[in-house]
Amino acid sequence: MEVVIVPDAAGGGELIAEAVARLLRHKPDAVLGVATGSTPLPVYRALAARVRSGEVDTSRARIAQLDEYVGLPADHPESYRSVLRREVLEPLAIPMSAFLGPDGTAEDVPGACAAYERALAAAGGVDLQLLGIGTDGHIGFNEPCSSLTSRTRIKTLTEQTRSDNARFFGGDVAQVPQHVVTQGIGTILEARHLVLLATGEGKADAVAATVEGPVAAICPASALQLHPHATVVTDEAAASKLKLAPYFRHSYANKPGWQGI
Ligand code: GLP
Repeated sequence: MEVVIVPDAAGGGELIAEAVARLLRHKPDAVLGVATGSTPLPVYRALAARVRSGEVDTSRARIAQLDEYVGLPADHPESYRSVLRREVLEPLAIPMSAFLGPDGTAEDVPGACAAYERALAAAGGVDLQLLGIGTDGHIGFNEPCSSLTSRTRIKTLTEQTRSDNARFFGGDVAQVPQHVVTQGIGTILEARHLVLLATGEGKADAVAATVEGPVAAICPASALQLHPHATVVTDEAAASKLKLAPYFRHSYANKPGWQGI
């Protein structure tokens, strides 16, 4: 696993946007796996600037959703489909026809999860999956003790995650759905490149457990250690509990520029 410590969130956004730009230059119809939450927003902003300047061509790119609330109407402003339309598809000039996502409103939730797995496979899999991380180490909505080989399925949120996410629902935790569908950890591990961005001191414990702890379901993000191409990008605050921070800095500073992340 590579760990890149950047000065701040904007620096992380630029670094990852550059990696996406590079991917799209080599593979214009790449499938980009995207995450919600506040953390990835600087990535989307940096990418949108490159699209506007003509530096990145997204006309053939495809977008794959990581997770979704169960039971929120698709047009609810906080359904992840709506969030991604607003934060990713529109700014990157990508049409909904290029969007893949699970149906959080389906009556047959397991059927919708299986259909999403099939759609991802039919699209050729995810080329680059951007991830955030929960304060409890979750990726997507794979809460602690999710199977490390899990596939897309329904999950029940922890009260911690519901309270973390209440800020998107006017601060009212009662409005945050109890259930979600999420790509499983096994599904996520099939993406060809995993890029996890973590910013802020609140993520420092989760980042330390992810990078330097054992591979264990109690910290779902630790499964990234099993992936041959996983990059963890953190700002200084989120990296503050990493014992090997000096090594990660040295290693990245001496990396050949042509390698990218
Ligand atoms: C939600 C999302 C995750 C995201 C996490 C962290 O739970 N399902 O994909 O990584 O929030 O969010 P934030 O980046 O806002 O801290």
